[in-house]
Formats: sequence, structure tokens, C-alpha cells
Amino acid sequence: MNTAQNIVVVGVQWGDEGKGKVVDALAEHFDIVARYQGGANAGHTVVVNGKKFVFQLLPSGILRLDKIAVIGNGVVVDLESLVAELDALAKAGIEAEGRLRVSDRAHLILPYHRSHEAAAELARGVAKIGTTAKGIGPSYEDKAGRRGLRTADLVDRERFREKCLTVFEEKNRLASALFPGSVISKDVMTERCLELAPRVLPCLADTSAFLNSEMDKGKRVLFEGAQGTLLDIDFGTYPYVTSSSAAAGGASTGTGVGPTRIGAVVGVSKAYATRVGSGPFPTEASGSDGEKLRERGGEYGAVTGRPRRCGWFDVPAARYSTRVNDLKALIITKLDILDQLAEIPVGVEYVYEGRRLEGFPAEIEILEGLRVHYKSLPGWQQSTFGLCEFAELPSRAKDYLRFISDEVGVEIAMISTGPDRDQTIWVEECRAASLLTAG
Ligand code: GDP
Ligand code: IMO
Ligand code: MG
Repeated sequence: MNTAQNIVVVGVQWGDEGKGKVVDALAEHFDIVARYQGGANAGHTVVVNGKKFVFQLLPSGILRLDKIAVIGNGVVVDLESLVAELDALAKAGIEAEGRLRVSDRAHLILPYHRSHEAAAELARGVAKIGTTAKGIGPSYEDKAGRRGLRTADLVDRERFREKCLTVFEEKNRLASALFPGSVISKDVMTERCLELAPRVLPCLADTSAFLNSEMDKGKRVLFEGAQGTLLDIDFGTYPYVTSSSAAAGGASTGTGVGPTRIGAVVGVSKAYATRVGSGPFPTEASGSDGEKLRERGGEYGAVTGRPRRCGWFDVPAARYSTRVNDLKALIITKLDILDQLAEIPVGVEYVYEGRRLEGFPAEIEILEGLRVHYKSLPGWQQSTFGLCEFAELPSRAKDYLRFISDEVGVEIAMISTGPDRDQTIWVEECRAASLLTAG
């Protein structure tokens, strides 16, 4: 077996790098696309021939009718959200259910996860995380606390009712003490889950067994990360992170595929940077610079509609992402958003209390207090929108990309110049480009 056939696509920054677009484009060369973590906090946008889809739980490869989609054990599944996505796709004429496998070990998100999260965020006041309010954190807390309910629990309805009784009673006791007003009727919750269950049960599978046996047959698997490395529970800007392993290591534990069966990791980064929610953002652009990026880039959350904070490409952060993921190639998206700028700053160095920092600091206080040194690169001030050939790029755009690649120390294998599947440059000159296409 050739392990190089299987790759992980991971966000290099704080999410929303354009992973959905990239995964959809790459999926052509793979047989299976598997999500390994996160839940409906993800909003992955795919545009095909001008038609836009936003995926939250479904892998972005689902639009390609000859591909199988897997929701791995590392994902937290909100039944309402999953069924709504399946319905929306069916309405658009795309049949997904026959091509979808959902892990029988994936944990469920239940209504109390959302209400507890809302209450906890309120209690944090100004220190709130600014979550997507999808119940992600509380669901992973229950998983780690060994009191979660899993998709496999839906198989036996009576047993599910019994398990719900125990868990919901404990939940409601806690909720009434900690967050008065967030108590939810346990019968309503249980019966709603059981009402939705028949839509998901036919898709349930031991997805680790499925993936491994398909790989044995030589099928290629693309592992789709959600969020980004800087939101990873271990490697992100803790505590302003999500609650799952968004970095590439999560692909193994989140699907039940051993790490040595995965050939390489490819990182997706915007040509600039954004963050949604609270937390440190060293290269954030203040004032009109940030606003211009937001307006031109349409930087509003795909899930929550919140305005995204915008700033410049951050080399130290990208180097850090490269290390923790072992990135073999970079994919740079939204190059076209920089088209009009006369000068483009790139953050090249962190300085704290007069000293240059090596690496990416763990302490939130340092991340918030550091200063960034920038190098300003000349803009190209002409349209790159929709270009499909590297040779067609203005020379200053090529210089900008080369600068990023050299500073980060990773080759760029693909460049995105627009939201549509076809608005993509495959950089064939890049030695790592073959990771994306051939096994
Ligand atoms: P994801 O969460 O990483 O999949 O990214 P999102 O879908 O949340 O956000 C990326 C946004 O940028 C979406 O609206 C995409 O349609 C859009 N997009 C992706 N690549 C490009 C690109 O190269 N140029 C432009 N203009 N838009 C892009
Ligand atoms: P995709 O997959 C950007 C952010 C939230 C918040 C923090 C914790 O589309 O890139 P959570 O609801 O996960 O507990 O929120 O993480 N966040 C994202 N930001 N893109 C995402 O997903 C995100 N998913 C979560 O804004 O700061
Ligand atoms: Mg997104």
C-alpha cells in the first residue's frame, strides 16, 4: 500500500481558510473524504458553477456524486443539524444518504449542550470565548467526562431511553443549580432524538473498519480538518480555542486510521489572516485596513454571520502550524482579495519585552502583549480573480507567494483565486504538488 495516497487537509490559521473549497477541489482525486473532528461549528463553503453550499457536518467532498463521505468518531454529531443538511442537499437534487457513513462511536450533541454553553458564555462576561453556540465544548466535555451519549446508543430505542434518563437527570440537576433557566424536559429531548434517529441509523458504521478496508483495496482517503491549528485544543491559543484536535494528529484518533497509514499533511492558509470570536490575534489590522480586508474578502462567519477580525499573514504562526502538523505543502487561498493593495504587510517576527521570540508562545499574556515586526511587500494592483495558471499571475503576486513560501519553509502546491471550484491554480512546478493528485 502507498501511504502517500492519503492526505490530511488542515487549517493553518484560526479556521475559515477556505478548507471547504480546497477539499471539494481536491476530492476529484480521492475516493473517500472523511471529517475527523469538530461538529456543526464548522462552516465550509463550496461554490460550484456559481451555486453555493455551506457544509457544517457533512464532508465537503459530498458534492461529488462518485465519492463516499465519512463522519468519523472524532466528530460530535448534532442530529438536527445533520438531518437539516441532508434535507437541504436533497432539495438541491443531491442524494447524500447512500454515500454517507457516520461513525457509531461519534458523540451526540444534545439540546442541553447548547443551553449549558449559552449559560457558561454569559457567566464569563467579557472573558467569553465567543463560541459558535453549537454545544461543541459541552459535548466534548461529556465525552472526556465519560458521560456522553453516542450514535450507537440510538440503535436500541429502549436502551437509549434508559441512558437518557440517567444522564439527563444528572444534567438537569447540575443545570438547575448552576444555570437556572437552562433546564430542558428530558422526555422532549429523548423523543426528539428518537424521531430523528431513523434518518441516521442506516448510515451508522464502524467507520474505522470501513476506512481501513477501503485503504487495503487501494482507495485514496482525504481527511478534512475543521477549524484550524490555532484553534486546536492542545496547540491553539488556549483557552480561546475549540474543544477538539483540529491539527493533523486528530485525523488518526478521529477516524481510527493509524498514523502511519496517512501519507502527508497539507495546510490551507489565506493569503492574509482572519479570526472570528475572542482571543489573541498578533497580526490583526486595526481601523480601516482591517475593514477593507473584511469588506473585500466578505469576511463574515459562514455559520454565525459574525464579522471576522482581519489582519496580515503571520509567518511565526504559520511556521508553528507547519511544525505541529508536519506540513508538506501549503495551499494559499483568497489571493484575489489582496489585488488592490499598494503595499502588503507580512508579519515576520514576534518581539516581546525587547527580545525576539523563537516559536509561538504558549502564554496568552505574551501572545496578547507581543509586538509584530512587519515586512511590507509591493502589491500587484491588478486582478488575479479566477486565474487558473501560475504563469498568468502578476510577477509581484508571484513574489509575494514566494516570500511566504520561503519564510514558512514550505512549498505552495495550490493557489485559490476565487470561491468557485475552478478558480484554482495547481502549481505543477511545486515538488509536493503530486501529493494532491497522484498516489
Ligand atoms: P472554511 O471554513 O475553511 O471552509 O472556509 P469558509 O467557507 O468558512 O470561508 C472561506 C470563504 O472564502 C468562503 O466564503 C469561500 O467561498 C471563500 N473563498 C474561498 N477561497 C476563495 C478565494 O480564493 N477567493 C475568494 N474571493 N473567495 C474564496
Ligand atoms: P471552520 O471549520 C472559524 C471558533 C469560534 C470561537 C472558538 C470556539 O469553518 O474553519 P466553538 O463553537 O468551537 O466552541 O468556538 O472557535 N470557531 C471557528 N472559527 N472557523 C471555524 O470552523 C470555527 N469553529 C469554531 O468562533 O472563537
Ligand atoms: Mg468556515
